[in-house]
Amino acid sequence: MSHSKVTIVGAGQVGATAAFTLVTRNITDVTLIDVAEGLPQGKALDMMHARSVLRFEPRASGTNDYADTAGSDIVVVTAGIPRKPGMTRDELLSINSRIVGDVVARAVGASPDAILICVTNPLDVMTDLAWKRSGLPASRVMGMGGVLDSARFAYFIAEATGAAIGEVEALVVGAHGDAMVPLPRLSTVAGRPLTELLPAEEVDEVVRRTVFGGAEVVSLLKTGSAFYAPGVSVAAMVEALLAEESSVLPACVRLEGQYGVSGVHMTVPAVLGRAGVIAVPELPLEPTELEALRASAASIAEQIAALESAGD
Ligand code: APR
Repeated sequence: MSHSKVTIVGAGQVGATAAFTLVTRNITDVTLIDVAEGLPQGKALDMMHARSVLRFEPRASGTNDYADTAGSDIVVVTAGIPRKPGMTRDELLSINSRIVGDVVARAVGASPDAILICVTNPLDVMTDLAWKRSGLPASRVMGMGGVLDSARFAYFIAEATGAAIGEVEALVVGAHGDAMVPLPRLSTVAGRPLTELLPAEEVDEVVRRTVFGGAEVVSLLKTGSAFYAPGVSVAAMVEALLAEESSVLPACVRLEGQYGVSGVHMTVPAVLGRAGVIAVPELPLEPTELEALRASAASIAEQIAALESAGD
């Protein structure tokens, strides 16, 4: 385990699941912070009670005071309200923008050298806002949505093909929402592209279930949104950022000309390491894939413009 300090803002479903994964898998100590008094302390204590059962060394702690988060290497922002049934991620925009703007200023004030991972929805717009409010270089601000969407795509691919999950490599880029862009041609089972394994209409169905994967969970739960897969996806991103060697993960990063897109945060494969976003190499995409990615970027740019004209 590296000697690192990770703060998770928001000790709700996603934040707590991420924290539990990070400590139980011996990845890092975690400080949970929330506006709700007692909630982060109680969840952290409960996690510590599991130490002797699962035999892990890292510590989870809880606080309501940003002073306790000072000097964090990574700050994860999950604070906000989750999507309710029938609510789109975009409807969360105005409530969550106030919360994210506020917590980013406080968290970065306490940890000016941190890398920020935004998780609050609508993800792409909140990541852009977090970058603007933080004053940090773009290389140290990213959003988590692509690891989750790609994991959902991988699950549905495994189900449709009967493959073991470990044989599946899946990639989803673009917006974290209805405009997301699953890439069947670049997703594989034991190295073979999905497009060669399933007829086109079955590929379309797998893509459709992926795009509505989050909404399907929301409609079943009735209160709140998904948290197990989002929580472990956050932990995977934190682990990649703390590792000595860099690795490539889909991350919501600021694009500066890649894929013909500039000035928005959107998910693409990025090289991540201890410095944050180390590089954003361009995938060779076909014209239809590129078109879908640019449409995704346009939908994000529209939401950013809407938020800015609302004066937030
Ligand atoms: N500062 C700190 N914590 C806050 C603040 C704030 N200003 N406002 C709200 N919170 C906390 C709440 O008290 C709550 O504990 O954020 C937590 C959110 O947890 P949940 O309601 O359980 O929501 P969760 O399911 O974890 O989702 C969080 O992640 O995936 C996204 O769409 C999801 O935007 C949502 C976020």
